[in-house]
Amino acid sequence: MVAVAILAAGRGTRMKSDLPKVLHSLGGRTLLERVLNSCLSVEPSRHLVIVGYGGEKVKQSLNYWAGIEFVEQTEQKGTGHAVQQIIPYMQGMTGDLLVLNGDVPLLRKETIKMLLETHRNHGNAATLLTAQLPDPKGYGRVFCDSQNLLKEIVEDRDCSPAQKQNRRINAGVYCFRWSALAEVLPKLSANNDQNEYYLTDAVNYLDPVRVVDVDDYQEILGVNDRKQLATAYKILQTRIKDDWMAAGVTLIDPDSLTIDDTVQLHPDVVIEPQTHLRGNTVIGAGCRIGPGSLIENSEIGENVNVLYSVITDSKVSSDTRIGPYAHLRGHVDVGAGCRIGNFVEIKNTKLGEKTNVAHLSYLGDASLGNRVNVGAGTITANYDGVNKHPTHIGSNSKIGSNSVLVAPVTLGEQVTVAAGSVVTEDVPNDSLVVARSRQVVKEGWRMKS
Ligand code: UD1
Ligand code: CA
Repeated sequence: MVAVAILAAGRGTRMKSDLPKVLHSLGGRTLLERVLNSCLSVEPSRHLVIVGYGGEKVKQSLNYWAGIEFVEQTEQKGTGHAVQQIIPYMQGMTGDLLVLNGDVPLLRKETIKMLLETHRNHGNAATLLTAQLPDPKGYGRVFCDSQNLLKEIVEDRDCSPAQKQNRRINAGVYCFRWSALAEVLPKLSANNDQNEYYLTDAVNYLDPVRVVDVDDYQEILGVNDRKQLATAYKILQTRIKDDWMAAGVTLIDPDSLTIDDTVQLHPDVVIEPQTHLRGNTVIGAGCRIGPGSLIENSEIGENVNVLYSVITDSKVSSDTRIGPYAHLRGHVDVGAGCRIGNFVEIKNTKLGEKTNVAHLSYLGDASLGNRVNVGAGTITANYDGVNKHPTHIGSNSKIGSNSVLVAPVTLGEQVTVAAGSVVTEDVPNDSLVVARSRQVVKEGWRMKS
């Protein structure tokens, strides 16, 4: 059995933020969510999250995750003090406890698995994840013998100049035999530079403690300030992009685009420069997205082209062309083979198949059938100043350029709207509607001079 405890009570002063540090977002997920996710590979029997600063916000951020036990640390007196708070929750608990700082968001699942396996194979009292850092400044230094058995961890601020030369650092990721840790936790003292109770002291009291290096030191980088947050983002992006390229996706100029790790791409997708894919977005095979597009929480079918456009919370079916400069938002559902063109905004609207809205239009709260042609400059006037109203357009209808469809209004199938019409009343199937004043021509007329 293994339980997980995550230290998430600190404010994160160096972030200079009202938001608790662990709630800062990294590529669509909070730091804390990332740490929790990295432990899923060992199927923990319990998840304890130690909260303090901004505790309510931290709890709220995880309210979708059933079974998390929140443990209050009302005063933040150090990492050791934080872990002391879980003692009452762990009565009668046998087995191991993984402890992770809430600010190490780049850990791979395999690394946590490897840590637990090393711990169990050697029957250690504790096992410590370490890394050899090019720049170890700020981290606790780890000293051990040639067998990787720990001698001592010394915090950066307590290190002598000679000790600071050691580049092996404590990642803030530990696996403890709970019964052993429970015995030493009450013995901690705050006898150090910061007057804090250090978890690293508890480790120093235990025996045997083995340390194990992570292969890729970037995994254990902690986030303490905004610069480190940006560094972590870059590392995460490189990882995500390398994985997608290996899976058969073409990224043109990868450095210029960003992809959240919640996004799913299918083979033979091409992502052009300056494109950003966020949230729960799925892009089907053969799509070409970009340049210059943003797609968030949207599902894109196969062979769709999106050029300089923004799509949020929407669905686009296969073989549709979008853009340049289209904006789809608020639950748009576009059928297959459609064309959404230049400077078109569409909100909360459903389009059937092979329907075209090619130029300069606004469609809101509407539903359109199949093979509808919406002429340039068509507007659904969906808002009367108080409420929003729907517009329905049947299949095979043609809306002439520069028409206004004043909602609520329903146009049947095979309707033709003359250009420049303001349609305020329903139109039955198979009709022509002309809703504008008749052209007047006065022959032989001249301006009086
Ligand atoms: C800690 C380690 C250091 C290690 C580094 C790795 C200690 C004493 N030092 O230092 O050896 O190299 O992590 O990143 O453990 N927290 C609480 N309650 C508290 C204090 C902190 O929950 O009272 C939480 C913080 O929210 C944070 C985590 O513990 O998520 C680590 O705290 P932080 O102050 O960042 O520790 P470091 O100084 O980085
Ligand atoms: Ca830290």
